[in-house]
Amino acid sequence: MFYPLVAGAILVGGALGSDPASPPPPVDNSFNVSTCPGYSLHSLSETDSGLTARLNLAGPACNAFGVDVVDLTIEVNYETETRLHVHIFDTADSQFTIPETVIPRPNASSSNTASKSDLVFNYDPSPFAFWITRRSAPYNTPLFDTRLSSLPATPIAPVMAGDPLTALDGFPLVFENQYLQLASALPLGANVYGLGEVIASSGIRRDVGTDGGVGTIQTNWARDIQDPINQNMYGIHPIYMEHRFNSTTDTSQSHGVFLFNANGADILLLTPPNANVSLVEYRLLGGTLDLYFFSGPTPLAVMEQYSEVIGTPTWQPLWGFGFHLCRWGYTSVNETREVVAKMRAADIPLEVMWNDIDLYHAFRDFTTDPIHFPADEMRDFIHELRQNNQHFIPIVDAAIGKATNNTDFYDPYLKGAELDVFIKNPDGTEYIGQVWPGYTVFPDWFAPNTLHWWTEALKNWSALGVEFSGIWLDMNEASSFCDYSCGTGIDISNTSMQFLLPGDPGNPITDYPEGYNSTISGPSGNVTVNGTLTYGATASPLSTLSKRGIGAGNQTGVDLNTPPYTIYNGFTGLSNHTLATNATHAGGYRELDTHNLFGLMEAMTTHKALKTVLQGQRPFIISRSAFASAGKWAGHWLGDNYSLWEYMYYSIQGILQHQMFQIPFVGTDTCGFQGNTDEELCNRWMQLAAFTPFYRNHNQRGAMSQEPFVWDSVANASRTAIAVRYAMLPYWYSLFANASMQGTPPVRALFWEFPDEPELFAVDRQFLIGRDILVTPVLTPNVSSVDGIFPGRGKTVWRDWYTHEVLNATSGANTTLAAPLGHINVHVRDGAAILLHQTPAYTVEETRQGDFSLLVTQSVDGHAFGTAFIDDGVSDPPGPSTIVTIQASMDTVNISSSGAFHIVQKLAEMTILGVTQRPAAVLVGGQVKNFTYAASQQKLVASGLSVDLNLGTTIEWK
Ligand code: GLC
Repeated sequence: MFYPLVAGAILVGGALGSDPASPPPPVDNSFNVSTCPGYSLHSLSETDSGLTARLNLAGPACNAFGVDVVDLTIEVNYETETRLHVHIFDTADSQFTIPETVIPRPNASSSNTASKSDLVFNYDPSPFAFWITRRSAPYNTPLFDTRLSSLPATPIAPVMAGDPLTALDGFPLVFENQYLQLASALPLGANVYGLGEVIASSGIRRDVGTDGGVGTIQTNWARDIQDPINQNMYGIHPIYMEHRFNSTTDTSQSHGVFLFNANGADILLLTPPNANVSLVEYRLLGGTLDLYFFSGPTPLAVMEQYSEVIGTPTWQPLWGFGFHLCRWGYTSVNETREVVAKMRAADIPLEVMWNDIDLYHAFRDFTTDPIHFPADEMRDFIHELRQNNQHFIPIVDAAIGKATNNTDFYDPYLKGAELDVFIKNPDGTEYIGQVWPGYTVFPDWFAPNTLHWWTEALKNWSALGVEFSGIWLDMNEASSFCDYSCGTGIDISNTSMQFLLPGDPGNPITDYPEGYNSTISGPSGNVTVNGTLTYGATASPLSTLSKRGIGAGNQTGVDLNTPPYTIYNGFTGLSNHTLATNATHAGGYRELDTHNLFGLMEAMTTHKALKTVLQGQRPFIISRSAFASAGKWAGHWLGDNYSLWEYMYYSIQGILQHQMFQIPFVGTDTCGFQGNTDEELCNRWMQLAAFTPFYRNHNQRGAMSQEPFVWDSVANASRTAIAVRYAMLPYWYSLFANASMQGTPPVRALFWEFPDEPELFAVDRQFLIGRDILVTPVLTPNVSSVDGIFPGRGKTVWRDWYTHEVLNATSGANTTLAAPLGHINVHVRDGAAILLHQTPAYTVEETRQGDFSLLVTQSVDGHAFGTAFIDDGVSDPPGPSTIVTIQASMDTVNISSSGAFHIVQKLAEMTILGVTQRPAAVLVGGQVKNFTYAASQQKLVASGLSVDLNLGTTIEWK
């Protein structure tokens, strides 16, 4: 939630000596960087696995936005056959680098040598420049190329009026204490993906600009901001993937580039005027130039290689894949309980019930409101959920309310102060911000006692009655409603809110749902009612809508408050609506360097705490802010979106991005958070989100109710989609096991599976679940059909999920599908073998207690293949598991298992698609079985089976 300050705010800023009180000075990034001297290389020492050398400033310092560092070291390491590490750092080692305790460095393979690597590091000694080529295709354009001195140093065209970046030009290597710049050539109009978190108007493929234009400014500065377009937001992920297609050979190769740097930054994608290249340019406020290159060559391989550096995603408990329901504005435990009952009465599966900050007493973490959410009643309520195999998740805000006086015993604050776990001002006093509870302090995740204190707070809360199954981490960019510190000497007893909350008297959410047009049907408008589409006469198009740390503060020439170069950050100062950049952490780390790590470190600390509080169980955490490697600890939701059709579409790119970022367990506020949704939008959205990993309906305080039972048509649509989701749970779970074991993304853009089909490179209105399931959602109002492209150019057979009919798809272009309200198109690829739950039930647990069924879709030559990963779904660390492998040939399906987990449930039914003739007999494990055959779908079904999956079997037909 982002609220601008309103006039008459109670807060006075800046009484603290070294805290600036005034807004940031006007932006002046004007400096002709082309006058910077660059570096020259000397003292080279080469080994089999890389090289080390020194880089000296090659001329008089330009001191563009700080002080040029004269003496640099470059280390190049061929770490694996597919990974090359290039690190340029100050030889004195005084710049900030991400501590090993936050993100440990990956292991390099000891036997790897330069000659085995698919990547080759090349360089010019003076002026120093380097370029990376691919050994297997040495004559291609380099993958990364910093030799840009021949490019005209022409000013870049402004992106928009007042843009701070217009005045910069020139592309030399710049390494200063407060400004680092490195640019690399990309092929003109390159296919670039990643860099985030962002909602990009260009879609999943990032805009690299055209002749003289900046297409993308991706700012690395975590920000609490309501889902803006083309701006930095909650999470920071400095990884991109580039996909190159060779139209002569009709083949493609992908590679990845990860900047291991947490400092504030702008990453630009641009195309200089009259140039035959586009560029990626890094402009960093500090740290070092630390780059990892991944050779792919497939998109999926790039992502797996990235996970080798930052870690693979945490194991999710199976119940986490159930449907979650939340809203801001459930006023009591009774209301929350009633919602659970209404879900049951409507027979819409509900797995996890959530409470927002309404739960709290005085908006304070780890409390319950004594009147509306008494702790004992919460305990009873959560026990009721448990008895029904359901779960409860509460919110935890990052800021800790400050006890207001000597008689205010708010233990989490008092204990924290005693244990010295809060962030400080430069003079060592407590740093004060403001969030929901009034004045607050902020946990310092670097402080030695923080994990212990945080664990105790969570444990006590659970003991009090809030027996959570998982935790929702919010406001952890970190958000603070004061710009800079709120100051010292302030009246902390004043806990009044600076603004009205949404839904408060005087601040109702009155906007009409997007589809409402009061001129058409009078006061009740034309919002759809129970499936009757009434949205306007015509569907509207999408709206246009190591540480500088220690002693950094003492470093001369370092401006902690307003670094000389201004990053874009949505035109606001670095310390606006968040912690001030001079805030100080244990170990001497400064907020200026570590700001982007807050959410990651909170997720890591919470994950470790939950391992103690919920021993033996997988921590289930959803965090708003994230940084590279956050997926090791938590999942993510896409923040405060809008109840608009456009945002339903944007959720797909958000989910795909986070697959690349290795936070695959991600979802959006289904039906929309801000503003009022309507029946048709919520209907489509409940269906779409059922095919995304984290499936939660969440709503703004004061907005119209949007639980799926509110409208009959949404209830129906939800039941249908959830049934498909729960049937597919073994498939989802297996995909996530692969993600946790090797970083393979569960949800996929179409070209990740079909990389040689350029018509797919920008597709983000459809997506694949794993290799096999293609989802084509409706993303516009008032339609009953949808266009979708079906990859494979006619060589891949796609079958309808529901009818099993083969789709007559147009090759390489859109096919129009029927999509009445309440129906989401799902297709299965040929060659698939998917283990399913035969009978989706009300909860995940009840579903998994039932038998399995198997869907096999043979390709033309009879081939099909699939695996299913099965374990107890909850143990941490994961216990024994069994992998079921299914392999089909022309007239046989073979099922085998390996592993120590005992699968109790039987395989009861088997559907094989692609069987061209009615067989005379079907044998399962050598025994004749009854079967049905439908010629029109080439479908053979054997049911009433009781196959022991631990033993496996063979199904043959003759
Ligand atoms: C933030 C969260 C939102 C939550 C609200 C109140 O805006 O992003 O999900 O409902 O705060 O806690």
